[in-house]
Amino acid sequence: MKVIVVFGTRPEGIKMAPIVLELKRRPDIETVVAVTGQHREMLDQVLDIFHIVPDYDMNIFKSGQTLTEITVNTMVGLETILDKEKPDLLLVQGDTTSVFAGGMAAFYKQIKVGHVEAGLRSGNLYSPYPEEANRRLTGVLTNFHFAPTEGNRQNLLRENYPDEAIFITGNTVIDALHLAVKDDYVFDNPVLNTIDYSKDVVLLTSHRRENIGVPMANIFRAVRHVVEARENVEVIFPVHLNPKVRAIAQKYLSDHPRIHLIEPLDYLPFSNLMNKVRLVLTDSGGVQEEAPALGKPVLVLREETERMEGIEANTARLIGTDYDAVVANFLELLDNADAYQAMAHAVNPYGDGHAAEKIVDIIIEQMADGSR
Ligand code: UD1
Ligand code: UDP
Repeated sequence: MKVIVVFGTRPEGIKMAPIVLELKRRPDIETVVAVTGQHREMLDQVLDIFHIVPDYDMNIFKSGQTLTEITVNTMVGLETILDKEKPDLLLVQGDTTSVFAGGMAAFYKQIKVGHVEAGLRSGNLYSPYPEEANRRLTGVLTNFHFAPTEGNRQNLLRENYPDEAIFITGNTVIDALHLAVKDDYVFDNPVLNTIDYSKDVVLLTSHRRENIGVPMANIFRAVRHVVEARENVEVIFPVHLNPKVRAIAQKYLSDHPRIHLIEPLDYLPFSNLMNKVRLVLTDSGGVQEEAPALGKPVLVLREETERMEGIEANTARLIGTDYDAVVANFLELLDNADAYQAMAHAVNPYGDGHAAEKIVDIIIEQMADGSR
C-alpha cells in the first residue's frame, strides 16, 4: 500500500510527524511525504527536528500569500505528484488551506482521503477563519475520519457521517509532546536562558486571521497594561512571521523590559518553555491542546473554540478579545491563588500519546477491508 502524507504549515508538521515516523516503521507501507511549503522557515524547523526529508516540496510559499494562491498552487502542485505516485491513500491533518486543497486534489483523482484531527467544530463559519470552513469542506471529501475525542466524533455524527467511518484516536499533538518535553531541557536562546522562572512568567502567542486588527490590538494593549500593573510579570511572545501580526505586536508591546518579543521558536524550545512558564495566553489551536497536558492554565484569546475539552476540564478559559475581559482574567490568575490552582492541573483529553500507532493500525485494517 502506498500512502502519501501531505502537509504545509508548522502545526500540521508537528502533528503529522509522529504519523510519518510510524508509517515508515511498517514494512508493508510505502510512505511518500509531500509538503506544500505553505510555511517555509516555520515548517522547515519541524522537518529538521523530526528528521523528515520530504520526497516532494511544492514550495508554494510567498510572503503575504492569499488564501486563493495557497489553494490553487497546492492543487496544481499536487496534481503532478498524484499522477506520478498513484497513491492508495492521501493523509491530511487539521484545518489549514493546505489541508483543504490537498483533500480536494485527491478527490479529483478519486484517491481515498484520511483526515487526521477530524470533527473539530466551533459552530461559526467565520471563526476561526478560514479554518472552520476548511475542516468542514475536508470532511466531505474524507473516507476515514480520525477524530481526537468523543466530542469530535459526535460533531461528525450530527453531520450524518457514518459511524463506521469515524475512529477515535486521540490527537497526535500529545505523541509529539511526549517526544519533545524533558524536565532537564536546557535552552540555547539567550533570552530564555536569563529569565527567572520563579517569577510570573507568561507565554503569549497570537496569530489568528480573525484577530488581526482591533481584536489583536485590544489583546496586546491589555497585556501591556497588566505587565505595567504587576512588577513580577515577565511576558515571552515568540512572534509569528505574519507581517501583519508583527506590526501590531511592535506597535503595542515593544520597548518594555519585561515583555520579550522574540522570533518564533523551534518546537523543542517552545514546548519546553511551555513546560516552565506559569500561565499561557493564546489564540493557537495546538497550544490549547499542549498546555493542559502540561498542567498550565490557558486563557484562550478567541470568541469561540473548537477545543472545548480543555474548557470543560477547567484548565482553559475562553475569554474573548475584549480589552477589559483580558485584563480582568489575566489579573485574576495572577492575584488569586485559588483561581490559579483550580486551573493548574494536567489533563489529557486530547490523547494518551499513542494516536499515531492507532491511526496507522486503522489504516492497515480499513484499506485491507476495502469497503470504504
Ligand atoms: C496558517 C494557517 C492557520 C494556522 C497557522 C499556523 C491557513 C489559511 N492558515 O496561518 O490555520 O493556524 O498557519 O501557524 O491555512 N510567514 C513567513 N514564513 C513562514 C510562515 C509564514 O514569512 O514560514 C508569513 C508570510 O508573510 C505569510 C504569512 O506569514 O504570508 C501568513 O502565512 P499563512 O500560511 O498564509 O497563514 P498563517 O497566518 O501562518
Ligand atoms: N509552536 C512552535 N514555536 C512557536 C509557537 C508555536 O513550535 O514559536 C508550536 C506549538 O508547540 C504548537 C504549534 O506550533 O504545536 C502551534 O502552531 P500555531 O499556533 O502556529 O498554529 P495552530 O495550532 O493555531 O494552527
